[in-house]
Amino acid sequence: MAILLAGGAGYIGTHTAVEFCNAGYDVVVADNLYNSKAEAVRRVEKITGKMIPFYRIDVCDKEALRRLFAEQNIDTVVHFAGMKAVGESVAKPLMYYRNNLDATLTLLEVMKEYGCKRFVFSSSATVYGEPESIPLYENMRRGECSNPYGWTKWMIEQILMDTCVADPDFSAVLLRYFNPIGAHESGLIGEDPQGVPNNIFPFITQVAVGRRPLLTVFGDDYETPDGTCIRDYIHVVDLAKGHVAAVPYATGHTGSTVINLGTGKGTSVFEIIQAFERVNGVKIPFEIGPRRAGDLPEFYANADRAAELLGWKAERTMDDMCRDGFRWQTMNPMGYPED
Ligand code: WQD
Repeated sequence: MAILLAGGAGYIGTHTAVEFCNAGYDVVVADNLYNSKAEAVRRVEKITGKMIPFYRIDVCDKEALRRLFAEQNIDTVVHFAGMKAVGESVAKPLMYYRNNLDATLTLLEVMKEYGCKRFVFSSSATVYGEPESIPLYENMRRGECSNPYGWTKWMIEQILMDTCVADPDFSAVLLRYFNPIGAHESGLIGEDPQGVPNNIFPFITQVAVGRRPLLTVFGDDYETPDGTCIRDYIHVVDLAKGHVAAVPYATGHTGSTVINLGTGKGTSVFEIIQAFERVNGVKIPFEIGPRRAGDLPEFYANADRAAELLGWKAERTMDDMCRDGFRWQTMNPMGYPED
């Protein structure tokens, strides 16, 4: 029996592939390489010493996905396959709705044909919208998303909830990520955004290795202790381990279960810059720019439910995130080589 990682060549997917291999699972990766490189899968094989069947397919392609299920004995699907750039989703909403919803619906339809009934979904805290209060609890209402990317996560959660109502044997664990950052300790895999990074941490690591001259801090006049926004940054390896912990839970339970994957701790922009400089002995030059539309002042998880249901909690510190992220970028200043 194997775990299919749909979108498994990406940042979260590769780190999760490593942890599933380390936990003794057989892993199969399907990825169209829209926002990732085949080299990343080869790096996973190097880290784990295991062969990873890699299907370079678009999971929206039903015939290709059927061939994968016919050749591989898949008993659980972990679904990362989706476009995830907030700004791009605002500019190209139809592409985001078509791709992210189509990929999910095609996966679910082929899973049904092959009797595969366990699904772990890469959801996002963005589905909370503007929270009523902080920290975020899973039983809080899903809110008004601020962009089509967030809405696709919101809608996919609804699709999975409805699937579980219709099929009482189906199990879906919806993992709501907060802010995954950092890299595997080997420095062989890490975050490799294409173009100008949208997110702060890859921007910081690219400044640190001289790929970019300085960081722009989007506003220091928020109602927070130091004026910059607070987020729940979680080490990507902790996040990956959360997926491994979700599979036994999905095996033992049916229905849909929503779980936050965060540390339960907030860190401001200034604090993450200071931690990065201290841990790595580098300077991160920055300027203060205008606020970015849609940014919320404060946003972090209550992580109790993951501990209660999965026996999982984040263990790595901000120092670990900064050290491991810098090592990846230093070893791969331009990210993964072209295939
Ligand atoms: C963090 C803080 C920015 C860049 C996003 C997605 C979310 C999820 C995680 C997928 C904010 C500030 C950023 C920069 C800055 N992705 N910042 N200068 O916005 O919390 O969440 O990534 O699920 O869906 O929205 O993360 O890293 O973009 O921003 O000052 O160049 O860093 O203003 O306060 P965010 P982020």
